[in-house]
Amino acid sequence: MLHKLHRVSALIIGTFVLFHLANHLMAFSGVARHIEIMELLRRFYRYPLVEIVLLACVGFQIASGVFFIKSRWGKRVGFFEKVQALSGAYLVFFLLVHVGAVLAGRAVFNLDTNFYFAAAGLNIFPASLFFYPYYTLAVAAFFTHVGCAIHWLARERLSVRARNRIGTVFILFGFLLGITIVLLFGGIFFEIQIPENYLATYR
Ligand code: HEM
Repeated sequence: MLHKLHRVSALIIGTFVLFHLANHLMAFSGVARHIEIMELLRRFYRYPLVEIVLLACVGFQIASGVFFIKSRWGKRVGFFEKVQALSGAYLVFFLLVHVGAVLAGRAVFNLDTNFYFAAAGLNIFPASLFFYPYYTLAVAAFFTHVGCAIHWLARERLSVRARNRIGTVFILFGFLLGITIVLLFGGIFFEIQIPENYLATYR
């Protein structure tokens, strides 16, 4: 039952994350375009009922994830089973910090948590030393976790070889996408001018 709920909740969070990451890639068309698309998406995910459901799913995912890690501690065999727990553990950490930071950014610092909110940490040293791996690993962990889930769910339908191949593609894709997004937000492809109020939170 708990596994089933974890999957349903993952589907809701996963749908948000796919739009969220596609939104981040829009920064290739410029910061203004990224913000424009985010404002469009917010009309949906910031609708109170939708946001409550999304945040409740995040809370449930964290709690059930910690439970699965603890209950199967030392019992996991094979690369994909172990990596599923590892990526899940990172997602627990990331979701707590990331969603906490976004909510605090809005409520405490009165910031519009848009492109600049994320880009500030990547563009100011030494905070960037934390934020580059933090965001890269988040995107990588997300796709790794999904890849490992598919690896397990397809165990009766696909050969081990095919499942290993799918799992590996998900892991590599996650790292590649994570690196692309941090470089994009870090100003590698074009210069980014971060407004002072975003930088001030790091000073
Ligand atoms: C490089 C990667 C990422 C960046 C730069 C990033 C950045 C952001 C920003 C700026 C917001 C605020 C959005 C808004 O104010 O409308 C946000 C919200 C959020 N992000 Fe991310 N994010 C990244 C990856 C992820 C991943 C991988 C996940 C999930 C596994 C995730 C989950 C969330 C959630 C749940 C919210 C809160 C949505 C809300 O209710 O307002 N993010 N992120």
